[in-house]
Amino acid sequence: MHARATILPLTLDRVTYAHGSTVLIDGISTVIGASSRTIILGPNGAGKSLLLRLCHGLIAPTAGAVRWAGADTLGRSDVARRQAMVFQRPVLLRRSALANITYALSLQGRLGRAERLARAHEALAGVGLAHVAQRPAHVLSGGEQQRLAIARAAALKPDVLFLDEPTASLDPGACRAIEDAIRAIDAAGTKIIMTTHDLGQARRLADEVLFLCHGRLLEHTPADEFFESPRTPQAAAFLRGDIVG
Ligand SMILES: Nc1ncnc2c1ncn2[C@@H]1O[C@H](COP(=O)(O)OP(=O)(O)OP(=O)(O)O)[C@@H](O)[C@H]1O
Ligand SMILES: [Mg+2]
Repeated sequence: MHARATILPLTLDRVTYAHGSTVLIDGISTVIGASSRTIILGPNGAGKSLLLRLCHGLIAPTAGAVRWAGADTLGRSDVARRQAMVFQRPVLLRRSALANITYALSLQGRLGRAERLARAHEALAGVGLAHVAQRPAHVLSGGEQQRLAIARAAALKPDVLFLDEPTASLDPGACRAIEDAIRAIDAAGTKIIMTTHDLGQARRLADEVLFLCHGRLLEHTPADEFFESPRTPQAAAFLRGDIVG
């Protein structure tokens, strides 16, 4: 159990998100604990990104509730501050890679300048980007930008880090660098909740799997069990690479 993960477990209580008459997230109830890497799998359009946004509080459920442990005592802003999210297409500032991180740290308002710099250098090294620290973020390659966004989020040392398709469209070397960074962030005490389309990556990283289909949570299973003997025909079809109906 990670000692820092004070806002976990995360409890989803019949979380629903509807747009007009279309139900996109359909009454999801489960509890996500602190001590495992959680990977959300499912076909395109299943609702994985929406679920991450709902958990992170970027959108509010139209019914049901998202609850974090300790929310009553910590208050809403503290619960928000203890989470970070990296989007598939990260938004970086038009300044150096290093300054992207030191700026994010300065917004937290808790570290002195020297400590911010040290933390930023450490985070860049952690994703193999020490050599581009002074380069403008917008000239970095797509894979480097994704790694920078992860480093920036990791530097905040959140209790929980949401990653939406962190390696989509990256080459195998960049994927490995990000997977190594994810393991290191996890080892440093941050809970990882992520989506991926890469089943090899899911097998390498997942401790547990949430399998979504048409906005419904069909499985919440230890990873070994999910990959060895999925409980639902939809998950079995998904793992075979069939179109899931
Ligand atoms: N704000 C919104 N308003 C209406 N529909 C939306 C909205 N956001 C997402 N959707 C729809 O909800 C469904 C789930 O979208 P989501 O992005 O969560 O899927 P996903 O599982 O992440 O898919 P992918 O594997 O392609 O990333 C999609 O059909 C999408 O068009
Ligand atoms: Mg998505």
